Amino acid sequence: PLVTTGELVTRAAEARSAVAAFNIITLEHIEAVIAGAESAEAPVVLQVSENAVKFRYGRLLPLARAAVVAAERAAVPVALHLDHVQSDDLLRQAQAAGFSSVMYDAARLPYADNLAATRAAADWAHAQGLWIEAELGEVGGKNGEPPLDAHASGARTDPAQARAFVTDSGVDALAVAIGSSHAMTTRTAGLDHDLLKRLTAALDVPLVLHGSSGVPDDELIAAVAGGITKVNVGTALNLAMTGAIRAYLAEHPEAVDSRTYLSVAREAMAGAVARIIGVLAAPGPA
Ligand code: G3H
Ligand code: ZN
Repeated sequence: PLVTTGELVTRAAEARSAVAAFNIITLEHIEAVIAGAESAEAPVVLQVSENAVKFRYGRLLPLARAAVVAAERAAVPVALHLDHVQSDDLLRQAQAAGFSSVMYDAARLPYADNLAATRAAADWAHAQGLWIEAELGEVGGKNGEPPLDAHASGARTDPAQARAFVTDSGVDALAVAIGSSHAMTTRTAGLDHDLLKRLTAALDVPLVLHGSSGVPDDELIAAVAGGITKVNVGTALNLAMTGAIRAYLAEHPEAVDSRTYLSVAREAMAGAVARIIGVLAAPGPA
């Protein structure tokens, strides 16, 4: 069934676990994420980024409609989230398209501008009954810039500033920069667990990890134990999809029917989804 992101995050926080949120681009992504969550018997968030909307000729509705129908028929609870929104026009389409939550991304702006834009977005979102996530201390690798390698310093979220930001903006959750980076194709990011501990102590909203594809399993488990409540994954699905298609076509150079290679791609993505949900469900260090 279709549920709200707010309830999945609240439930995860109460259980001291995390809900996985996967970025969807095609119908195969939608089907694979739901199949993977069903096999793991866990709730899941389907998220559509502004970049994915741009890829779909700037249109949100075709993918959103498919996601809503698939979610309604899923055997596990599924929520819809609009991810990395910078455009006010897109933000305002969220609710009518079936989304219960948005991530408003003004992290590229100087602090005061990020706060002002985020507060306006949060006021609007709450008036619509939407749950809203924002970002402070930019997680890199978003717009095709090279991903940070293993121990590159990168941006970090300051706990005191984060506390003021959450209080003054009124957001429901915060994406924090603790060492992960978007679009990594190796699982080699090192997280700053001490900083995460200080952020958890300073804030009373759920914390969101972006760029989770690049985070090794043990680091993910420790991050959830340290207070991460929503784990965003995108690139891991692209890796699974593209790897499966590349292997299939190399082995079947005569293939023509797109269903042949999309089937193996979908299966590979579903496997990746179930695997990651399994990692998040693993008991963390005592
Ligand atoms: O908001 C989306 C996530 O941060 C995805 O990051 O593609 O590096 O897993 P990723
Ligand atoms: Zn992200």
